[in-house]
Amino acid sequence: MIRVALLPGDGIGAEVMRGPAELLEATKSQVPIEVTGTWPVGSTGYVECGDLLPRRTLAACEDADAVLLGAVGDHPGVDLGGQRSEAALLDLRAHFDLRISIRHVWRGEGQPLTFVRNLLGGAYGPRDTHIESDGISPASDLIVLEPRRIEEVANIACDFAARHPGTVIISADKANLWATGRLWRSIASDVATRRGVTILHRLIDRCAFELAQRDLPNAVIMTEGIFGDILSDLAAGRSGSIALCSSASVHPGAPACGRCVGIFEPVHGTAPHLVGTHRANPVGAYLALAALAEWFQETAVFGRAVKLAVDGAMHEGPWTGDFAAVPAEEATTEAVAARINRRCLEILETGVVA
Ligand code: IPM
Ligand code: MN
Repeated sequence: MIRVALLPGDGIGAEVMRGPAELLEATKSQVPIEVTGTWPVGSTGYVECGDLLPRRTLAACEDADAVLLGAVGDHPGVDLGGQRSEAALLDLRAHFDLRISIRHVWRGEGQPLTFVRNLLGGAYGPRDTHIESDGISPASDLIVLEPRRIEEVANIACDFAARHPGTVIISADKANLWATGRLWRSIASDVATRRGVTILHRLIDRCAFELAQRDLPNAVIMTEGIFGDILSDLAAGRSGSIALCSSASVHPGAPACGRCVGIFEPVHGTAPHLVGTHRANPVGAYLALAALAEWFQETAVFGRAVKLAVDGAMHEGPWTGDFAAVPAEEATTEAVAARINRRCLEILETGVVA
């Protein structure tokens, strides 16, 4: 049984997570997932418990195999008194050593585009690598990349390519400027040679251009944390909506703390301007649930069913406002979620994903 701690979080987080939570409830007799929560985090944690990452939420995460998160950040009407809301997310990543990020961008036909990157270290270094300015002194952010961490990212990209025949590995770096970029390129190259797989190298700016200009082939893009943060949003934009990207922050191997090995969330963030409008697109939350379920062998079939249900809903519509051609044809968050849930239950019933 896989235990999932549900943290809807802030902004539209609770709205987009309602559908997936209902789906988990409706499938609990056939899918080995048990849900705990909901647990408060971020601005919502601050309001309920005076803490961005309340102790009981952290304990619930430690006691779960994975966390399903809506969004952490700003919430309408909440003043954090100078604290930065993303701190809860960064603390969770550090606590569970979730040092790898895997993102899938839905692309309509065929396979999603996948990004693998470091999520601790590099541009995502510990607090003391980010020096604030008082307005007069300079600010600085130090990028330190350990060879073994680059190697780990490269191996995960190779594993992914091996599981998805026909997938090219693209390594994107800034080797023409940064020492870390040159190290990245040389290690990526060595690992690919050792594993006997083809790798294409791109400078990060060229890679961004190619992503924006045309659809890349079936690819897994391995790149430094901050580059992947930016490129994955770009790829989602190219696909038509920021809601088309799932984000997994994972710890490779046995859990570092408690039993938690990953946080799975949509990439879109809190979108405070959409709160209460029923216009938020829930697809990212479903893609996050699918990524979570596919991470564990026991629930992989369910993950594929969720993905198929999303495919169906995306191909047919009606869609939320980010996709609908004219406002009159917009569907609400709840209507899209209900349709995905119905499809998923049908898919599970007919057993087409076994
Ligand atoms: C993301 C976000 C975070 C990140 C921020 C909030 C720190 O942009 O998850 O994509 O850069 O990792
Ligand atoms: Mn981001």
